Amino acid sequence: MTDMTAPHTVAFPQNRTCPYHPPTAYDPLRDTRPLARITLYDGREVWLVTGHGLARTLLADPRLSSDRTRPEFPAPTARFAGLIKRKSALLGVDDPEHRVQRRMMVPSFTLRRAAELRPEIQRIVDERLDAMIDRGAPAELVSAFALPVPSMVICALLGVPYADHDFFEGQSRRLLRGPTAEDTMDARDQLEVYFGELIDRKQKQSEPGDGVLDDLVHQQLRDGALDREELIALATILLVAGHETTANMISLGTFTLLQHPDRLAELRADPGLLPAAVEELMRMLSIADGLLRVAVEDIEVDGQTIAAGSGVVFSTSVINRDEAVYADPDSLDWHRPTRHHVAFGFGIHQCLGQNLARAEMEIALRTLLTRLPTLRLAVPAEEIPFKPGDTIQGMLELPVTW
Ligand code: HEM
Repeated sequence: MTDMTAPHTVAFPQNRTCPYHPPTAYDPLRDTRPLARITLYDGREVWLVTGHGLARTLLADPRLSSDRTRPEFPAPTARFAGLIKRKSALLGVDDPEHRVQRRMMVPSFTLRRAAELRPEIQRIVDERLDAMIDRGAPAELVSAFALPVPSMVICALLGVPYADHDFFEGQSRRLLRGPTAEDTMDARDQLEVYFGELIDRKQKQSEPGDGVLDDLVHQQLRDGALDREELIALATILLVAGHETTANMISLGTFTLLQHPDRLAELRADPGLLPAAVEELMRMLSIADGLLRVAVEDIEVDGQTIAAGSGVVFSTSVINRDEAVYADPDSLDWHRPTRHHVAFGFGIHQCLGQNLARAEMEIALRTLLTRLPTLRLAVPAEEIPFKPGDTIQGMLELPVTW
């Protein structure tokens, strides 16, 4: 029998063995829900939240801080440790500062705004697919489709020139997956210089453009509601979070569907199932696996104390497979009763871009599956490289044919 009072300690994060399942090394954590102990890369031991109910309770608890400049904030990798202590926005700040920034951003990311953007998203999706189909099979789906679609959408929304995409996609890649801490910090510096220059150019324009950054420059920055450093930090997180994550969901989502032919046939026969399918893919893939917090006060949980100063990590992949909430959690089943997954987080930092991301995933997958009814992998699944466990999960490349 499992001793529920003795938390299990595993190394975190670890690489997935299958790109759409949590690492098999996390399996023992399922038996010790809702809390476990993990060891980070630097040997530090912190708490890992693995239970669905507890995750939603703690993600809404103001005694857990997102402030990355706190000395005890947990770093899952050396490169993340390098970024701590830098000015951050939204995800890296607590209330009341967070509330002020979030209020500024919310009008640009409502459900209604995402609905208004659908024709533009569809146009971009069609254009990318036309170009890919014109070049002929086989194709590499990440570079031809999964990455450019969200990248073009977030550029249009923010008012960032897509012509610069090679530069900022490269820096985002280094930021999330650079080989060393120095490399990661350099990527962050480069992005900050880029946004500083873009803001300068926007300030000089007599006729503001219609992007979110144009509004922020010509209102909040001008009125002093934001300073330049905060605006640069905001622009950086919006751009990086706005394309890397969704790109991974499109590539890994496509791969996962191709590995589930019966489910795929069902979806092709009834595309009305797509919104439910997107939600189930979000739950199953849990691509942002390891949300980070630090306790600022003692928190009592199930007879245990998360002491002030302790690091707390949320494994969304393990939480989203809690048997108490999801029957047969390892299966891909969009007919399961809707239960709120935490793949977009929960509480005050819940994903700002979730309405936009849902619209993008739905339109991208629907159009891809409809336009290419014979879409399939171009090489055996085992040969397709996917991302390591210490970053946002997704496919590095996805060779397909049709
Ligand atoms: C499918 C794609 C996406 C996934 C899986 C995802 C996942 C997440 C998660 C898990 C969080 C919470 C992190 C935490 O609490 O520590 C988050 C926050 C955030 N996301 Fe997303 N995201 C996606 C798409 C987007 C898009 C398209 C944008 C557009 C700009 C975006 C912008 C943000 C921002 C700004 C935050 C921080 C919000 C705050 O702190 O108030 N995300 N996202």
